[in-house]
Amino acid sequence: MSLAIGAALLAASAANAAQVEVLHYWTSGGEAKSAQVLKQMLEQKGHTWVDFAVAGGAGANAMTALKTRVISGNPPAAAQIKGPAIQEWGDEGVLLSIDDVAKRENWDKLLPPEIASIMKYKGEYVGAPVNVHRVNWLWINADALKKVNAQPPSTWDDFFKVADALQKAGITPVAIGGQSWQQAEMFETVALGVGGAEFYRKAFVQLDQATLKGPTMVKALETFRKIKPYTDKGQTGRDWNMATGMVISGKAGMQFMGDWAKGEFSVANKVPGKDYLCVPGPGSRNAYTFNVDSFVFFKVKTPGVEKGQKDLASLLLSPQFQEVFNLNKGSIPVRQGMDLSKFDACAQKSEADFKSAGAKGTLVPSWAHDMIDKPSVEGAFYDVIGKFWNDDSETAQEAANKLAVAAKTD
Ligand code: GAL
Repeated sequence: MSLAIGAALLAASAANAAQVEVLHYWTSGGEAKSAQVLKQMLEQKGHTWVDFAVAGGAGANAMTALKTRVISGNPPAAAQIKGPAIQEWGDEGVLLSIDDVAKRENWDKLLPPEIASIMKYKGEYVGAPVNVHRVNWLWINADALKKVNAQPPSTWDDFFKVADALQKAGITPVAIGGQSWQQAEMFETVALGVGGAEFYRKAFVQLDQATLKGPTMVKALETFRKIKPYTDKGQTGRDWNMATGMVISGKAGMQFMGDWAKGEFSVANKVPGKDYLCVPGPGSRNAYTFNVDSFVFFKVKTPGVEKGQKDLASLLLSPQFQEVFNLNKGSIPVRQGMDLSKFDACAQKSEADFKSAGAKGTLVPSWAHDMIDKPSVEGAFYDVIGKFWNDDSETAQEAANKLAVAAKTD
C-alpha cells in the first residue's frame, strides 16, 4: 500500500472512530474478563473504549453513579441496565433509539419475544441484550461433598442433611456475603423451590397481596431462616465473588448464586462435574429464574459518538461476541440458534432447562436481579428480606406482611 493511501485510510477510520464510554459493574475476576472481550471487540472496530466501571455486585452502586451523570447532563454513551428500569429511563427522554440497527439485523427474529419486549421503548429498540443468566443454581465443591459421602441435594430435606454433615466435618455449609442483594437472591431461589413457579409468579410478578402474606410465603421465609445457622459469622459486607472463592477453595461447601459464579470457577481453572457441581436450587429443578444483562445507549452531545454506539449495539448481538463473552461470563447466548458445542455441561443444562421451562410455563424472571418490578418495589423487597435475615426476633409472618406492604411502594 502506498504511503498516501495508507494515510488516507487512517484518516478515514479516525474520522469514524468514536470514544465510547461504557458504564458497567463487571469487576470480579470472571466479570472483568468478560468486559475485556467487549472492549477488545469494540476496539477492533476502530473505536476507543472508555471504561466507566463501578464496583459492586448486582449494580446498585453503578445505578447511583449513572443517575448523577445523567442529571448533570453528561451521560455515558452506553450503560449496563436491565428490566423495567429501561422503561423508566425511556420516560426521561434520554435514550437513543437503535431501532435501525435492530431492523437491519433482524433482532425480532434473533431474540425470544419476552426478551425483545424488555429491550423496546414505545415499540423501538433502545437496549441490546447480551446473555441469559440462570439464577436458581446451587454451586457445590465436589471434594467437600465426597468428604461427607453425600449426593447433590435436590429436596430441602436432603439439603439440610448435607448442610448438617458439612458442618460436622468443619466446613462452612453455605457461603454468602452479607449484602442485601445476595440475601434477596438466596431468598428468591428458596421461594421458587418451596412454592414453585406458579406461586412465584403470583407473588413477585403479579404482586398478589394474599400470596405475598400467605402460608406458602411464610414457609419460604422459614426455610430461608433455617439456612442461616449454616452460614459463617464473617459474612458482613462480603462480596459475592469472595463467597464463591470460599466454595472454590473448599472452605465452604455450597453457594446459592446465579451462573456468573461459574466465571469465577473458570478463572480459577476449575472444571464442572469434576471440581464443582452445578445443580438447580432444591425443589426448583423444573423451573428457571432468568436474568438478562443488557446495554442501553444515551443521547450524547459529542458529534460522532452515535456511530460508535450503533457499532457497539450491532457487536453485542453478533454470534462471535455472544459466544466468547458468554463462555467467560457463565451465561448462555441470548441470540437464538447458536451452536453451544464449546460450552460446558452447566451451560448446556441451562440452555435445555431454559427451553423446557419455557414450554412448561415455569420460566420466570428474577426479581432480585431487576427483571420484574420497578426499582422502588425491588428495593423495598430487599429491605424486608435483609431485615428478616439479620433480625431473628422478627417472625416469618411479620416479614410476609411487610412484603405485601412493600409491593405497594410507589
Ligand atoms: C447481576 C448481573 C450479572 C452479575 C451479577 C453480579 O445483576 O446480571 O451480570 O454480574 O449481578 O455482579
